[in-house]
Amino acid sequence: MIKLTELNKIYRTDEIETIALENVNLEVQKGEFLSIMGPSGCGKSTLLNIMGLLDAPTSGKIEINGIQTINMKDKELAQFRNQKLGFVFQSFHLINSLNVIDNVELPLLYRKVSSSERKKRAQEVLEKVGLSHRMRHFPTQLSGGQCQRVAIARAIIGNPDIILADEPTGNLDSKMGAEVMDILHKLNKEDGRTIVMVTHDERQAKQTARTVRFFDGRQIQ
Ligand SMILES: Nc1ncnc2c1ncn2[C@@H]1O[C@H](COP(=O)(O)OP(=O)(O)OP(=O)(O)O)[C@@H](O)[C@H]1O
Ligand SMILES: [Mg+2]
Repeated sequence: MIKLTELNKIYRTDEIETIALENVNLEVQKGEFLSIMGPSGCGKSTLLNIMGLLDAPTSGKIEINGIQTINMKDKELAQFRNQKLGFVFQSFHLINSLNVIDNVELPLLYRKVSSSERKKRAQEVLEKVGLSHRMRHFPTQLSGGQCQRVAIARAIIGNPDIILADEPTGNLDSKMGAEVMDILHKLNKEDGRTIVMVTHDERQAKQTARTVRFFDGRQIQ
């Protein structure tokens, strides 16, 4: 499903060179729930962003669903991302001026989907994350856990095969974090979505099928 080959990422400025990823080779199987762990600064977000085609590696290859992405143009990349990938971030990345349903619909605005169909799909995914009763609320009127559930609804509205989550419970207390984890597990088990999640929480990692560990840009386990 996802195949990373000899991936390197080096950030260069005039004075410093940071090796964020060094010769990473990683395969994620279809339907797998993989967690990524490692100390701050070891390259986890860099890896997830490259996997999600939000950032380009300095060298190496990224294959998703059998398709080589390395030579894709920006427009093609954006379309591919929109159709195949759903993102969930630690800080939710919701738009505060839009209500819940409008936030969730956003990925479908970039596709030719009618307004009534968008609303219908948004209602379905909001139901899935247990938020159908909050559709007209604005993000500032929601708890952190609810915001993250809106973000998950937005991530799945386009029916992506893959969900990439960067510390999805990092800003939540343990109860809200557990709710978000339950939803991710449900999306994996019931809907068969492939999930790659960065986490600092050993207990959460234990609940996933496989954990890979990084240190200083290298996979150590
Ligand atoms: N835009 C950038 N320019 C220069 N260096 C960067 C840039 N982004 C990240 N880095 C460096 O690359 C390394 C990996 O960063 P990354 O954000 O991937 O770490 P992380 O494992 O996600 O850490 P955290 O757990 O704190 O989120 C760090 O040393 C960081 O300083
Ligand atoms: Mg990070």
